[in-house]
This record gives sequence, structure tokens and C-alpha cells, in this order.
Amino acid sequence: MATLLALESSCDDTGASVIRNHTLLSNITSSQKIHESYGGVVPELASRAHQRNILPIIQKALAEAGVARKQLDAVAYTQGPGLMGALLVSNSFAKGMSLALDIPLITVNHLHGHLLSHLIESPVPGFPFITLLISGGHTQLVYVKDPLTYEVLGATIDDAAGEALDKAAKVLGLPYPGGPLMDRYGAKGNPERFDFPTPDVQGWDFSFSGMKTSFLYFIRDQLQKDSNFINDYLHDICASYQKAVINYLLRQLENVVEAYGIQDVGIAGGVAANSFLRNRAKALAVKKDWNLFIPDLKYCTDNSAMIAKVAHYQYEQGQFSTLESVPYPR
Ligand code: KG4
Ligand code: ZN
Repeated sequence: MATLLALESSCDDTGASVIRNHTLLSNITSSQKIHESYGGVVPELASRAHQRNILPIIQKALAEAGVARKQLDAVAYTQGPGLMGALLVSNSFAKGMSLALDIPLITVNHLHGHLLSHLIESPVPGFPFITLLISGGHTQLVYVKDPLTYEVLGATIDDAAGEALDKAAKVLGLPYPGGPLMDRYGAKGNPERFDFPTPDVQGWDFSFSGMKTSFLYFIRDQLQKDSNFINDYLHDICASYQKAVINYLLRQLENVVEAYGIQDVGIAGGVAANSFLRNRAKALAVKKDWNLFIPDLKYCTDNSAMIAKVAHYQYEQGQFSTLESVPYPR
């Protein structure tokens, strides 16, 4: 029997989870609201908030799980990628606990965590599966062979999908993060009203910077003709732009899944919360006869439960780290 504590503080969510024999006993997340008015995550503010939050969150995770510190068999933390100052917070705490409790230390890759977010709750995909990981920091197509073996088939060469939505929302004057607002306004608009071109990148990679720039020019040109353009067409602009981004994501997913002859398909990361995407993906899954897996929203956005899941598999294989381990931002 193994009981593990996992910590996550790579960006702007502080998390602690306890897992025992692959059953999640607790999952506490605190999302930082402090960045809203800055139009993006401010690294220094993120580190300070993690520092304030981490101890109460660990205590809460242990209490909710009914586990005492001395019952822990290992402690895990997200080693990277992420913001250096933010990553250092769980790095330091995990090392301290490993030393004080004399238990092994486990380092987990954040993206690996997102991949195994599909395994936290039933129904779970069978191996191998392909997942589209879309968040504010990542956009990847990944082939997952088994819990500890995966291959990144394609990734964004510039912005992430969430950034593409957030930056467009910023042009429209919406607060950060704009993705959820694009979703809400877009649901009320006509996705066919405006046509936003999508890139034609070879292979399984993605690029969003061209879309972002053409969106900026489009809005600028329209505002020159009609200063009320954003107000009058906000819903249609959101609907049309998010449709373009999502169709592009799903087109790449469809192509890669077809090429690999895979039937179990996942979508994870914060952008998987988008209602337009969820509807389109479900329809695509029916058409293509896929088994589609999208984790519950709390496991799509950054969380420590997914880190605990990876850590548990690493624990079983004896993949431990040392006190010399340092975070890697990239
Ligand atoms: O996974 P996540 O919480 O954090 C990162 O690791 O980045 O993802 C955050 C991203 C943001 O870009 C946010 O705008 C986007 O997910 N997002 C959404 C929705 N909810 C969150 N994008 C579109 N529609 C949503 N409903
Ligand atoms: Zn993430």
C-alpha cells in the first residue's frame, strides 16, 4: 500500500493532492485571481501567492484525506515546465518534507500530468490513446503508449491555443483570461458571420501567431470604418474566431488520429472547457467512431491530482529523485 502527497505550483494554481493505491483521497486547488487586472500572469505575484497558499493547502489536503504526515510513503512535485519562481515553491516544500519525513522524492513533468488526467476518473481510455492537450501554456498532440511512455507528435511553434483566445479577447477589451468570455459571448453569436483564416502548417505542429495578427488587423480596419464595431458585433466576432481556432485544433486531431489508426482519443487542458469545442468534438467522435475522453473540468485545468497520478506510477517503478533536483522552466 502506498500513500503519496503531490504538489503543483507551475503557473497560477497552487495544488496539493493525496493519492493511495491509485485512489485520489483529496485534491485541493487554489486559483490565483490576482492576475486578472494585469492582462496575464505576473510571475513575481504568482510566486508570492504560491508561498502564502502552499502550507494551508497541504494541511487541507492531508486533513481531507484523513492522512497524517508520517503515513506518507513519498512526496512528489511538478518539476517543470512552468514559471521558475512558482516551481521553486513546491520544489522547496517537497524537498523539505522528503528530508524531514525521510521519504522518497518524486519529480513529475507537468505535461505528463495533463496526459494522465484522463486516468483520474472512470471511464478511462485504453492504451495507446492520442490526446490533444490545449491550455494557456501548451498545445500538443501526444501519443500515450502506457502510463510512463509517450511521444509528442506535434506542438505549437509559437502561441498556445488558450493564448490565441486570450490575446484576441484582449484586443476586444475583455479581461484576462478571455477564453471563458469568448465561450460565453460566442455561444450567443453567429459563427459564420466572419471568416478568419487558419494556418496551413506541415505535419502535426500548430501555429497561432498568424491568426492573432490577422485578427488584430481585422479589428483595427473595422474600427476605422465603424467605431462601434466591437460593441455591435461582439458575439459574432467571438463565435467566428473561436470557431476558427477550434476547427483548426480538431482538424489536426482528426488527421493525426486517422494516420495512427487510434480509436481512444482524449482532449485535456483548460481550453477543453470550451462548449463549442466539446460539442464539435462529440459530433466528430460519433462520425469517426472514436471513444472520446474529456476529463472533468477540475482535472482539465492545472491541478495536483494529475501530478499525483503520474507520481504513483513512478513510485511503483522506483523512479525517485534526489535533493539535488532543481525545477526546469522549459
Ligand atoms: O489549463 P489551464 O487552466 O492553465 C494552463 O496551464 O494554461 O488553461 C487556461 C487556458 C486559458 O487560456 C483560458 O482562457 C482557457 O484555458 N479557457 C478557455 C475556457 N476556459 C478556460 N478557453 C475557451 N473556453 C473556455 N470555456
Ligand atoms: Zn497546465
